Amino acid sequence: MRVAMIGTGYVGLVSGACFADFGHIVTCVDKDASKIERLKNGIMPIYEPGLDALVASNVEEERLFFTTDAAEAIKDADAVFIAVGTPSRRGDGHADLSYVYAAAEEIAGLMDGFTVVVTKSTVPVGTGDEVEDIIRKARPDGDFAVVSNPEFLREGAAIKDFKIPDRVVVGTEDERARQLMRELYRPLFLNETPILFTDRRTSELIKYAANAFLAVKITFINEMADLCEKVGANVQEVSRGIGLDNRIGRKFLNAGPGYGGSCFPKDTLALSKTANDVGAPVRIVDTVVEVNKARKKAMADKVIAAMGGDVKGKTIGVLGLAFKQNTDDMRDAPSLDILPALMAAGAKVRAYDPEAMTEAAHLLEGVDFATSPYDAIQNADAMVIITEWDQFRALDFERVKAALNTNIVVDLRNIYSPEDMAARGFAYTSIGRP
Ligand code: UDX
Repeated sequence: MRVAMIGTGYVGLVSGACFADFGHIVTCVDKDASKIERLKNGIMPIYEPGLDALVASNVEEERLFFTTDAAEAIKDADAVFIAVGTPSRRGDGHADLSYVYAAAEEIAGLMDGFTVVVTKSTVPVGTGDEVEDIIRKARPDGDFAVVSNPEFLREGAAIKDFKIPDRVVVGTEDERARQLMRELYRPLFLNETPILFTDRRTSELIKYAANAFLAVKITFINEMADLCEKVGANVQEVSRGIGLDNRIGRKFLNAGPGYGGSCFPKDTLALSKTANDVGAPVRIVDTVVEVNKARKKAMADKVIAAMGGDVKGKTIGVLGLAFKQNTDDMRDAPSLDILPALMAAGAKVRAYDPEAMTEAAHLLEGVDFATSPYDAIQNADAMVIITEWDQFRALDFERVKAALNTNIVVDLRNIYSPEDMAARGFAYTSIGRP
């Protein structure tokens, strides 16, 4: 099958490479010529474990191509995926669909023969109808179907999530499109991955509902953590205690500095806006959006409190900037709230992240970037862990002690045990644990 992938962001690039690996002929299109040039030379625009090797092998097998020429990709394609960005619109928080609609216009002008147009980008309910209208207007005689096929991959685990998903959701009422989508994902069904066929609007809502539910789950445990701190309970054990109930489930119950990333903040906000606009507010999601925003800011106060209430003139060594481990993505990362607040309170910040420093340098003015975790905490008055990278889970504490001016450690990801840290002689503050 021939696939065109419009957009080589996270979702487009990973999906394109994985479809090629399934045996399809995939052409990825992007307007950014330098990005396409780099991809042709095997240079990935993002850090994602395993992606470079997957791209390289499929390029070599001549199943995966990169181009800036949409015509080349679309004219012979059986399926054209729209995987462009849907950022929050400045001002009102709604998803900005201009890239999606521009892609629809472009596809309309170039498609040839029966074409399935698939929205992979996260789009508000009804966007598929709009895309269909745009294409129909431009090509009244066009033979096409518009399908919603949301993507649930996580950054840092994207290839595994694409190839071994919990489910595939396909929204269309067109039988030919269903057959084609089934064929595209065929390798998954050999592994008995459930495929949920539904209508387009339901499929669009499933994606938002899934992300919002996970954001609710995280926010719930974060608030439990605050409560644990007040009443002397342990949030990790609360998590385990409730998570072992199959109705609740253990995943996404790790308390932390608040969720970030390219999806949860933007999608919860967009869902909340849509729901309010149509007069069916999802109040729990409205609240989660507010609570999470406040939480990220409150983390700076937690650090300041752990340092005795005043950080003026002090140096803080920060480990981890990305919104989570195994990514260089800084979008809505808690560090973007925490570090400026610490600097505003008079602290000097020296930070290290294994992958995100290039991106962070554009976003965090005034931060000093270090070459290693130990370099970040050299002569610092506290060590603060913001991202749970594996390399921070196995620090050499003799070196940590030698580097730090104090024994203060603040761990916003609970990667160490309070007992062990106390035994090592640290004044250790974590999330929701005595
Ligand atoms: C998410 C969804 O998981 C994925 O299905 C969707 O397609 C895109 O959005 P991603 O943003 O890559 O994926 O990361 P995820 O692993 O879900 O983490 C999101 C945020 O929640 C991170 O900031 C993470 O640190 C935080 N998180 C996650 C917690 O604080 N606690 C948890 O238990 C889990």
